[in-house]
Amino acid sequence: MDARRAAILGTIGVDRFVARTPLLAAGAAPATATDRLDWDGLAAAVAGCTRCGLAATRTQTVFGVGDRGARWLVVGEAPGAEEDRQGEPFVGRAGRLLNSMLRAVGLAREQVFIANVLKCRPPGNRDPLPEEVRCCLPYLHRQIALIDPALILCVGRIAAQNLLGVDTPLGQLRGRSHELKPFGTPVVVTYHPAYLLRSPGEKRKSWADLKLAMEVARGRGA
Ligand code: URA
Repeated sequence: MDARRAAILGTIGVDRFVARTPLLAAGAAPATATDRLDWDGLAAAVAGCTRCGLAATRTQTVFGVGDRGARWLVVGEAPGAEEDRQGEPFVGRAGRLLNSMLRAVGLAREQVFIANVLKCRPPGNRDPLPEEVRCCLPYLHRQIALIDPALILCVGRIAAQNLLGVDTPLGQLRGRSHELKPFGTPVVVTYHPAYLLRSPGEKRKSWADLKLAMEVARGRGA
Protein backbone atom coordinates (compact mmCIF):
# COMPACT_ATOMS: atom_id res chain seq x y z
CA MET A 1 0.00 0.00 0.00
CA ASP A 2 1.43 3.38 -0.87
CA ALA A 3 2.16 5.91 1.91
CA ARG A 4 -0.60 8.34 0.93
CA ARG A 5 -3.30 5.62 0.89
CA ALA A 6 -1.91 4.27 4.22
CA ALA A 7 -2.20 7.72 5.79
CA ILE A 8 -5.79 8.21 4.60
CA LEU A 9 -6.86 4.74 5.74
CA GLY A 10 -5.03 5.25 9.03
CA THR A 11 -7.32 8.20 9.84
CA ILE A 12 -10.30 5.83 9.80
CA GLY A 13 -8.53 3.08 11.73
CA VAL A 14 -7.63 0.77 8.84
CA ASP A 15 -4.04 -0.43 9.13
CA ARG A 16 -4.10 -3.28 6.61
CA PHE A 17 -5.45 -3.19 3.06
CA VAL A 18 -5.68 -6.28 0.85
CA ALA A 19 -7.04 -5.75 -2.65
CA ARG A 20 -9.77 -8.25 -3.50
CA THR A 21 -9.15 -10.58 -6.43
CA PRO A 22 -12.28 -10.50 -8.60
CA LEU A 23 -14.12 -13.84 -8.46
CA LEU A 24 -14.53 -13.73 -12.22
CA ALA A 25 -12.17 -11.94 -14.57
CA ALA A 26 -14.00 -9.27 -16.59
CA GLY A 27 -15.74 -10.92 -19.53
CA ALA A 28 -15.22 -14.47 -18.26
CA ALA A 29 -18.23 -16.71 -18.70
CA PRO A 30 -19.86 -17.79 -15.43
CA ALA A 31 -19.61 -21.31 -16.88
CA THR A 32 -16.09 -21.51 -15.48
CA ALA A 33 -17.52 -22.22 -12.03
CA THR A 34 -20.46 -24.30 -13.31
CA ASP A 35 -17.99 -26.71 -14.89
CA ARG A 36 -16.83 -27.85 -11.47
CA LEU A 37 -20.16 -28.28 -9.67
CA ASP A 38 -21.38 -31.65 -8.38
CA TRP A 39 -25.08 -32.59 -8.65
CA ASP A 40 -26.11 -30.86 -5.44
CA GLY A 41 -24.12 -27.73 -6.27
CA LEU A 42 -25.53 -27.65 -9.78
CA ALA A 43 -29.12 -28.09 -8.58
CA ALA A 44 -28.62 -25.27 -6.05
CA ALA A 45 -27.03 -23.01 -8.68
CA VAL A 46 -29.98 -23.54 -11.04
CA ALA A 47 -32.55 -23.05 -8.27
CA GLY A 48 -31.03 -19.69 -7.34
CA CYS A 49 -30.05 -18.56 -10.83
CA THR A 50 -30.46 -14.90 -11.77
CA ARG A 51 -28.24 -14.94 -14.85
CA CYS A 52 -31.01 -13.71 -17.17
CA GLY A 53 -34.34 -11.92 -17.08
CA LEU A 54 -36.35 -15.16 -16.88
CA ALA A 55 -35.56 -15.26 -13.14
CA ALA A 56 -38.07 -12.44 -12.70
CA THR A 57 -40.96 -14.17 -14.47
CA ARG A 58 -40.59 -17.85 -13.55
CA THR A 59 -42.60 -19.58 -10.82
CA GLN A 60 -39.66 -21.92 -10.27
CA THR A 61 -36.71 -23.35 -12.15
CA VAL A 62 -37.03 -26.72 -13.89
CA PHE A 63 -33.76 -28.55 -13.33
CA GLY A 64 -34.48 -31.88 -15.00
CA VAL A 65 -35.66 -35.25 -13.82
CA GLY A 66 -34.73 -38.91 -13.99
CA ASP A 67 -31.83 -41.26 -13.55
CA ARG A 68 -28.55 -39.39 -13.07
CA GLY A 69 -26.74 -42.46 -14.38
CA ALA A 70 -29.03 -42.80 -17.42
CA ARG A 71 -27.73 -44.02 -20.78
CA TRP A 72 -30.27 -41.82 -22.60
CA LEU A 73 -30.56 -38.07 -22.05
CA VAL A 74 -33.60 -36.37 -23.58
CA VAL A 75 -33.17 -32.65 -24.27
CA GLY A 76 -36.09 -30.32 -24.92
CA GLU A 77 -36.39 -26.59 -25.40
CA ALA A 78 -37.72 -24.94 -22.24
CA PRO A 79 -40.39 -25.42 -19.60
CA GLY A 80 -43.96 -24.56 -20.55
CA ALA A 81 -46.71 -23.33 -18.24
CA GLU A 82 -47.37 -26.68 -16.57
CA GLU A 83 -43.65 -27.42 -16.15
CA ASP A 84 -43.16 -23.96 -14.59
CA ARG A 85 -45.99 -24.78 -12.13
CA GLN A 86 -44.80 -28.29 -11.24
CA GLY A 87 -41.01 -27.83 -11.51
CA GLU A 88 -40.61 -30.89 -13.72
CA PRO A 89 -39.95 -31.07 -17.49
CA PHE A 90 -42.43 -32.55 -19.95
CA VAL A 91 -45.42 -33.04 -17.65
CA GLY A 92 -48.21 -31.78 -19.93
CA ARG A 93 -49.74 -33.45 -23.00
CA ALA A 94 -46.41 -33.28 -24.82
CA GLY A 95 -44.84 -35.01 -21.83
CA ARG A 96 -47.32 -37.87 -22.01
CA LEU A 97 -46.48 -38.33 -25.69
CA LEU A 98 -42.77 -38.23 -24.86
CA ASN A 99 -43.37 -41.00 -22.31
CA SER A 100 -45.06 -43.08 -25.05
CA MET A 101 -42.14 -42.44 -27.41
CA LEU A 102 -39.76 -43.67 -24.72
CA ARG A 103 -41.90 -46.74 -24.04
CA ALA A 104 -41.74 -47.51 -27.77
CA VAL A 105 -37.97 -47.91 -27.44
CA GLY A 106 -38.34 -49.98 -24.28
CA LEU A 107 -37.58 -47.25 -21.76
CA ALA A 108 -39.62 -45.99 -18.81
CA ARG A 109 -39.49 -42.24 -18.11
CA GLU A 110 -37.61 -43.04 -14.87
CA GLN A 111 -34.83 -44.80 -16.80
CA VAL A 112 -33.75 -41.71 -18.77
CA PHE A 113 -32.80 -38.19 -17.72
CA ILE A 114 -34.96 -35.39 -19.14
CA ALA A 115 -33.74 -31.79 -19.25
CA ASN A 116 -34.21 -28.64 -21.27
CA VAL A 117 -31.86 -26.12 -22.86
CA LEU A 118 -33.50 -23.42 -20.69
CA LYS A 119 -34.27 -24.09 -17.04
CA CYS A 120 -36.88 -21.31 -16.84
CA ARG A 121 -40.07 -20.72 -18.79
CA PRO A 122 -39.98 -17.95 -21.38
CA PRO A 123 -43.15 -15.87 -20.85
CA GLY A 124 -45.96 -16.83 -23.20
CA ASN A 125 -43.88 -19.83 -24.36
CA ARG A 126 -41.95 -17.62 -26.79
CA ASP A 127 -38.73 -18.95 -28.31
CA PRO A 128 -35.64 -18.64 -26.09
CA LEU A 129 -33.55 -15.51 -26.72
CA PRO A 130 -29.88 -16.04 -27.67
CA GLU A 131 -28.82 -14.32 -24.44
CA GLU A 132 -31.00 -16.67 -22.36
CA VAL A 133 -29.45 -19.68 -24.09
CA ARG A 134 -25.94 -18.30 -23.56
CA CYS A 135 -26.60 -17.90 -19.83
CA CYS A 136 -28.31 -21.27 -19.36
CA LEU A 137 -26.43 -23.69 -21.64
CA PRO A 138 -23.55 -24.19 -19.15
CA TYR A 139 -26.06 -25.88 -16.81
CA LEU A 140 -27.06 -28.39 -19.48
CA HIS A 141 -23.40 -28.91 -20.41
CA ARG A 142 -22.62 -29.73 -16.78
CA GLN A 143 -25.58 -32.15 -16.68
CA ILE A 144 -24.20 -33.85 -19.80
CA ALA A 145 -20.73 -34.11 -18.26
CA LEU A 146 -22.11 -35.56 -15.00
CA ILE A 147 -24.47 -38.06 -16.67
CA ASP A 148 -22.11 -38.98 -19.51
CA PRO A 149 -24.98 -40.57 -21.47
CA ALA A 150 -24.50 -43.01 -24.34
CA LEU A 151 -26.97 -40.99 -26.41
CA ILE A 152 -28.71 -37.64 -26.42
CA LEU A 153 -32.16 -37.55 -27.98
CA CYS A 154 -32.90 -33.97 -28.90
CA VAL A 155 -36.56 -33.16 -29.40
CA GLY A 156 -37.44 -30.23 -31.64
CA ARG A 157 -35.65 -27.67 -33.76
CA ILE A 158 -34.93 -25.14 -31.02
CA ALA A 159 -33.34 -27.69 -28.69
CA ALA A 160 -31.31 -29.25 -31.51
CA GLN A 161 -30.05 -25.98 -33.00
CA ASN A 162 -29.05 -24.58 -29.62
CA LEU A 163 -27.41 -27.74 -28.36
CA LEU A 164 -25.49 -28.35 -31.59
CA GLY A 165 -24.79 -24.65 -32.18
CA VAL A 166 -26.12 -24.66 -35.74
CA ASP A 167 -29.00 -23.05 -37.60
CA THR A 168 -29.67 -26.02 -39.88
CA PRO A 169 -33.39 -26.78 -40.41
CA LEU A 170 -34.78 -29.72 -38.43
CA GLY A 171 -35.41 -31.75 -41.58
CA GLN A 172 -31.69 -31.72 -42.31
CA LEU A 173 -30.68 -32.51 -38.74
CA ARG A 174 -32.82 -35.67 -38.63
CA GLY A 175 -31.74 -39.01 -40.02
CA ARG A 176 -28.13 -39.07 -38.81
CA SER A 177 -26.13 -39.01 -35.64
CA HIS A 178 -24.27 -35.80 -34.72
CA GLU A 179 -21.29 -35.67 -32.40
CA LEU A 180 -21.67 -33.18 -29.56
CA LYS A 181 -18.41 -31.37 -28.98
CA PRO A 182 -16.46 -31.42 -26.69
CA PHE A 183 -18.23 -34.38 -25.07
CA GLY A 184 -18.12 -36.77 -28.02
CA THR A 185 -21.69 -37.83 -27.24
CA PRO A 186 -23.87 -38.84 -30.21
CA VAL A 187 -27.00 -36.72 -30.68
CA VAL A 188 -30.06 -37.93 -32.60
CA VAL A 189 -32.66 -35.31 -33.46
CA THR A 190 -36.39 -35.85 -33.77
CA TYR A 191 -39.61 -33.85 -33.74
CA HIS A 192 -40.85 -32.16 -30.58
CA PRO A 193 -43.78 -34.13 -29.11
CA ALA A 194 -45.87 -30.92 -29.07
CA TYR A 195 -45.38 -30.72 -32.85
CA LEU A 196 -46.34 -34.40 -33.20
CA LEU A 197 -49.57 -33.68 -31.32
CA ARG A 198 -50.37 -31.01 -33.92
CA SER A 199 -49.12 -33.09 -36.87
CA PRO A 200 -49.76 -36.75 -36.04
CA GLY A 201 -48.93 -37.66 -39.64
CA GLU A 202 -45.25 -37.06 -38.80
CA LYS A 203 -45.21 -39.78 -36.10
CA ARG A 204 -44.01 -42.31 -38.67
CA LYS A 205 -40.87 -40.21 -39.30
CA SER A 206 -40.37 -39.82 -35.57
CA TRP A 207 -40.45 -43.61 -35.21
CA ALA A 208 -37.65 -43.81 -37.81
CA ASP A 209 -35.65 -41.35 -35.67
CA LEU A 210 -36.26 -43.42 -32.56
CA LYS A 211 -35.08 -46.57 -34.33
CA LEU A 212 -31.91 -44.72 -35.33
CA ALA A 213 -31.46 -43.59 -31.72
CA MET A 214 -31.80 -47.18 -30.50
CA GLU A 215 -29.22 -48.33 -33.04
CA VAL A 216 -26.75 -45.60 -32.02
CA ALA A 217 -27.28 -46.29 -28.31
CA ARG A 218 -26.80 -50.04 -28.83
CA GLY A 219 -23.58 -49.30 -30.72
CA ARG A 220 -22.41 -47.63 -27.51
CA GLY A 221 -23.41 -50.58 -25.36
CA ALA A 222 -26.69 -49.09 -24.08
N1 URA B 1 -41.54 -28.56 -24.06
C1 URA B 1 -40.20 -28.63 -23.82
O1 URA B 1 -39.39 -28.45 -24.73
N2 URA B 1 -39.82 -28.89 -22.59
C2 URA B 1 -40.65 -29.11 -21.59
O2 URA B 1 -40.22 -29.37 -20.47
C3 URA B 1 -42.04 -29.04 -21.86
C4 URA B 1 -42.45 -28.77 -23.10
